[in-house]
Amino acid sequence: MTKFVEKEKILEQQELAESVKELLFLRFGKIPLAFVHTYGCQGNVADSERIKGILLQMGFQMTEEITDADLILYNTCAIREHAEDRVFGNVGAVKKLKKSKPELIIALCGCMMQQEHIREKIYNSYPFVDIVFGTHAHYILPELIKEYLTRKKRVVSAFDIDGEIAEGLPVYRDRTAKAWLPIMYGCDNFCSYCVVPYVRGRERSRKSEDIINEAKQIIAEGYKDITLLGQNVNSYGKGLEEDINFSELLRRINALDGDFTIRFMTSHPKDCTHELIDTIAECEKASKHIHLPFQSGNNRILGEMNRRYTREKYLELINYAKEKIEGLSLTSDVIVGFPGETYEEFCDTLSLVKEVGFTSLFTFIFSPRKGTKAAEMPDPVPHSEKAKWFKELCDLQESIAAEHNAEMKGKTFRVLCEGESKNSEELLAGRTDGNVIIEFKGDKSLIGTFCKVKVTEPLNWIVRGELVK
Ligand code: SAH
Ligand code: SF4
Ligand code: F3S
Repeated sequence: MTKFVEKEKILEQQELAESVKELLFLRFGKIPLAFVHTYGCQGNVADSERIKGILLQMGFQMTEEITDADLILYNTCAIREHAEDRVFGNVGAVKKLKKSKPELIIALCGCMMQQEHIREKIYNSYPFVDIVFGTHAHYILPELIKEYLTRKKRVVSAFDIDGEIAEGLPVYRDRTAKAWLPIMYGCDNFCSYCVVPYVRGRERSRKSEDIINEAKQIIAEGYKDITLLGQNVNSYGKGLEEDINFSELLRRINALDGDFTIRFMTSHPKDCTHELIDTIAECEKASKHIHLPFQSGNNRILGEMNRRYTREKYLELINYAKEKIEGLSLTSDVIVGFPGETYEEFCDTLSLVKEVGFTSLFTFIFSPRKGTKAAEMPDPVPHSEKAKWFKELCDLQESIAAEHNAEMKGKTFRVLCEGESKNSEELLAGRTDGNVIIEFKGDKSLIGTFCKVKVTEPLNWIVRGELVK
């Protein structure tokens, strides 16, 4: 059964936040500024939005300038070694800031902090880190900061509970057009390579009423694109008292008034049903884009990964979806070089990519994660060889995406304008319903609205276009 943090406990923290406000003012003599940086997945971004909400309650204002900050908080990710290395690099770099400004508070939270060996490393090698808290402790941030300010000692809180849901936390969203909406937390799947079940706890779903209320608020605030978040949204509803599944939740959000698009991630193929595909086809607000990670195109490797579906089952779902959903766009995640994978087995991944024709792919080289099964498996293929396979996959996908983008030429798409382009100040950037990035000339007042854009210039990864009336 899903467990919820008692309302009284949340209120208690809100009261603490008020008293922390005074303590902070005494320490800094001004309105304190917080710099929050987030690594990892959208789930982590959504957590940071709640953490920022709590920081505002404590009287902080947000800053983008790390050198102006009175509190530096890194929300960390443990999914691959590279993600962890980046965190350590950045934390090492703030040591200098702390030296020049001793009252600066440095805090680390998120998935890495849920791992004992990481906490030990921080404790021993990064003595300037003041506060460490794990993925279940966000809502007690006022208590942690108060403890640090009054005891003036390092504070660590990374309890490893079975997983609870804390409702009623304030949320600070700093993006314009798009909003993240968590519908569930944790993961029970234990794919053999993955650290998430260890650092995020057991799978648990929010009540539909809480999700719908948050969706209504998001829509009222003017957001045009809502992404429902969970590690495996297809198993939404398990463990709740109410009888509801993900398809039903989608239908209820689709029925809300307003002009907005609904997306979701991530779907696990083992729990993806025809009912869900039919629901996406029926719901006019559901984006006709599915992100369905397949990880490997080879059945032996899928078995070793503990994914609990076969290549055939995956392709059956894809073919059903292509048949039912007009204009369907598909994206996926792939791991190259799982322990023991041979080149022949990797070729099954290439052939699956060719067969499906993904709009885009997120490709990763296997990274051993402490505590997972795969980290203990013999892994004879050298990294340099895996890097070659990886490049072969990326080249293949690039040619598929280029072909796909070329087919868009001359067609007009409904695009949500998200902001200025990263490539050119003169251009705006948005995404089509199928999640392809499109750049076009237009007035900044269009940011946050739906526009009609005709594709004029397909490039390899993105497309350029022009506004049509
Ligand atoms: N819950 C999602 C994935 C979350 S992690 C799902 O099951 O699809 C995002 C992606 O990171 C995964 O899909 C996988 O492709 C990749 N990943 C996870 N652990 C990894 C590891 N140890 N090495 C390399 N890639 C990994
Ligand atoms: Fe990791 Fe698998 Fe859970 Fe996704 S479903 S978070 S890959 S264990
Ligand atoms: Fe990373 Fe944690 Fe997300 S490990 S990918 S931030 S759930």
